[in-house]
Amino acid sequence: MRWPLPVSPRRRRLLVVVLFFALCSIPRNYSQRLVTLDTIDIFTTHEWFPSKPTVYFHCNGEDKVYLPDVKEANSIYTFKGEESWQPLTELPEKKCKRCGLYEENIFKHDMYDEWELCSSDFKAGKYTHFKQGQFNATFLCPNSTASAGDSANHHSDSEVETKKTSVTVIIVVCVLASVIVSIALFGAYKYWQKKKRERDQARFLKLFEDGDDVEDELGLGNEL
Ligand SMILES: *[C@@H]1O[C@H](CO)[C@@H](O)[C@H](O)[C@H]1NC(C)=O
Ligand SMILES: *[C@@H]1O[C@H](CO)[C@@H](O)[C@H](O)[C@H]1NC(C)=O
Repeated sequence: MRWPLPVSPRRRRLLVVVLFFALCSIPRNYSQRLVTLDTIDIFTTHEWFPSKPTVYFHCNGEDKVYLPDVKEANSIYTFKGEESWQPLTELPEKKCKRCGLYEENIFKHDMYDEWELCSSDFKAGKYTHFKQGQFNATFLCPNSTASAGDSANHHSDSEVETKKTSVTVIIVVCVLASVIVSIALFGAYKYWQKKKRERDQARFLKLFEDGDDVEDELGLGNEL
């Protein structure tokens, strides 16, 4: 068994590993749905004392996203979408996330509202969430264009196609990687076998030589 290229076994192993990870990481590139905060206007703060509120956005199972600029009630804050704390979250394709807006206080956390944030709620990439007496916020998600009807459905169809292709690619690559690893292992085994045979042969020959010596000695003994 011969490797087609003159590479050392160590390099060969490295090559296999690099190839495996490079190809297995390709399919992660399909459409992301990052949600950013566009504007927010809080109508109230839940503070007991006249101090600045600490407002944060939070989705189930994720980290809190603090909105450090939102300090005053009844003033509209507008964001560029590239602030250090953006994006707020990422939405899956056909599933909603339970998210909410809260205020952190020393003793307890007050809720402005908690709701299901869905990709399909974004009309032309924009979604407004309003709660009477609490807040009004607009969120942006350019890749969520469910309202566009026909073209949107078509889009998601092609996305499903892309996903299928990606899965096929993963399978093919993983099978290929396994085959390459098997070949490498087989080659190593064959090499070890050859070495062992050579060693055994050498030992056998040595035995013969030793045998001759014994015969010589015996012959010598007879003559004496
Ligand atoms: C939209 O999806 C593309 C990949 O298809 C990604 O590069 C881009 O960042 C996404 N934009 C948002 C806002 O999620
Ligand atoms: C909420 O805010 C958006 C953007 O500032 C505005 O267009 C909309 O009219 C507001 N809605 C309510 C109910 O205040």
